[in-house]
Amino acid sequence: MSAFNPLTEYPAYAQLQSHAQRLQSVAIQSMLAEDAARADDFGIEAAGIHLDYAKQLLDRPTLALLLELGEQAGLAARVEHLFDGESINVTEQRPALHMLLRADAAGGHESAYAEVSATRERMRELADSLNAGDWQGYWGDVITDVVNIGIGGSDLGPRLVTEALPAFAGALRCHYVANVDPADLAGTLAGLNPATTLFIICSKSFRTEETLTNGLAARQWLLDAGAAAADLDRHFLAVTTNLPAAADFGISGDNCLPMWDWVGGRYSVWSAVGLSSAVALGWENFSRLLTGARRMDEHFRNAAPAANMPMLMALLEVWNCNLLGAENHAVLPYDHSLRQLPDYLQQLTMESNGKRVGTNGEPLKYHTAPVLWGSAGTIGQHSFHQLLHQGTRRCPVDFVLPLNTLTGRHEQHRRLVANCLAQSRALMVGRSPEQAREALTGRGVDAAQAAVLAQHLAMPGNHPHSVLTMHSLTPEALGSVLALYEHRTYCSGQLWGINPFDQWGVELGKEIGAQILQRLNGEDGVAMDDATERLITAWQRAR
Ligand code: F6P
Repeated sequence: MSAFNPLTEYPAYAQLQSHAQRLQSVAIQSMLAEDAARADDFGIEAAGIHLDYAKQLLDRPTLALLLELGEQAGLAARVEHLFDGESINVTEQRPALHMLLRADAAGGHESAYAEVSATRERMRELADSLNAGDWQGYWGDVITDVVNIGIGGSDLGPRLVTEALPAFAGALRCHYVANVDPADLAGTLAGLNPATTLFIICSKSFRTEETLTNGLAARQWLLDAGAAAADLDRHFLAVTTNLPAAADFGISGDNCLPMWDWVGGRYSVWSAVGLSSAVALGWENFSRLLTGARRMDEHFRNAAPAANMPMLMALLEVWNCNLLGAENHAVLPYDHSLRQLPDYLQQLTMESNGKRVGTNGEPLKYHTAPVLWGSAGTIGQHSFHQLLHQGTRRCPVDFVLPLNTLTGRHEQHRRLVANCLAQSRALMVGRSPEQAREALTGRGVDAAQAAVLAQHLAMPGNHPHSVLTMHSLTPEALGSVLALYEHRTYCSGQLWGINPFDQWGVELGKEIGAQILQRLNGEDGVAMDDATERLITAWQRAR
């Protein structure tokens, strides 16, 4: 395994700093105009996805230096450590083998792969049986609705896959409940019939408060409708590593699908955690998702660094965040079905790389993951794009654009594409005060007023961004995109010298949450600070 090395101490880093300074006053637009091959050369095709990074704020010498940085950080060797199953999750002494979940061969992990294959077979049987209408509930009715109860990685992945691929969906309806707020479960159950509803309790640990609370409420809903406790297996499946806890809940071993400690929750959509989406899409289409991800794995493992899409995206992330000073990163999918993608990527990237110490346990002296956010285009254009164009912060963007629509509405889709390309170009070219003034006087505004207004209309442009395109949003393309971001996240984490596979930062809130719940239950418990005590009192008074 590679030793820790701070990002800022790689020899290429200091050189990149002077490039960053120089490029602050260089226009991306001019670099494109002066280099006829840039638009072609600053692009990579892999696993059905095209990455266009010609509108990033960097030139060829900078790109060469970034690749040197990747070499000095030993990225190629680190890719092998990942696939070889080394214990790269150093704080938990575990490998991160999520690629095995979509592999078509064991690749040296025979026993784990045997379990993966058996689980895939079980998933296929369940998806087929539910879609064939062979699964009947307690009252003998055919199941028509599946509710996945889970949170974080046990929710975001299958929810995204199900929503992203409506053109591939079957007749069964899949719903997602994550929030401990009772409104989430109640809102979902309001439209459902207990006799025809199957729940999947999805929790790697089977200890997550939100999931267990919602699971118990769902169980009670069935009991209240008259189901017998002994027959609840006809309405419950579980996906977990914790079989005893699932058994305590009342789900028999036959109805439990396994998870493994070598899969992080946010990397688990390919496992039985994805069962609800496999049911929604049918096994064939779910397999196509795995195929797309596998193609990206092959590219990641085999492509030279200069042509390696995840590696290059990681180097660009470090370039934008650490060298150009960006604190944010927006992901803007121009496909309404991908509206969950920013939420999914928030967990993937911020829970993975939102870290403040290196793998050696020492505090880092540089920034790690940027704040990732975004929403579906064109909706964001009428809300936060104002800040992207004229705000004071630099915010790199990834546009994600399927070039064809599967809705059959090509005329309307043409408008969506035009908007995406327009936003990309506008972010680059901006509008100078002179251009704004000319446009205003051309519209008849008098010269003095135009001179003042022009400052408000001017947009600096030169906002770095990439455009990811694919032919259309098929299961393969979605699988490739998700695997791309997984590997990008891994490489960025390696460059920052952190462990992307643990998440200790979420623990303290859970511990304090349990202490406060004790107090809200009226039990003696830990005294809080004055401000928190005041809120506890406010809650007590409001009841
Ligand atoms: O609290 C964070 C977290 O542990 C995530 O990493 C995970 O995806 C989520 O909670 C759900 O955990 P589980 O699948 O064990 O319920």
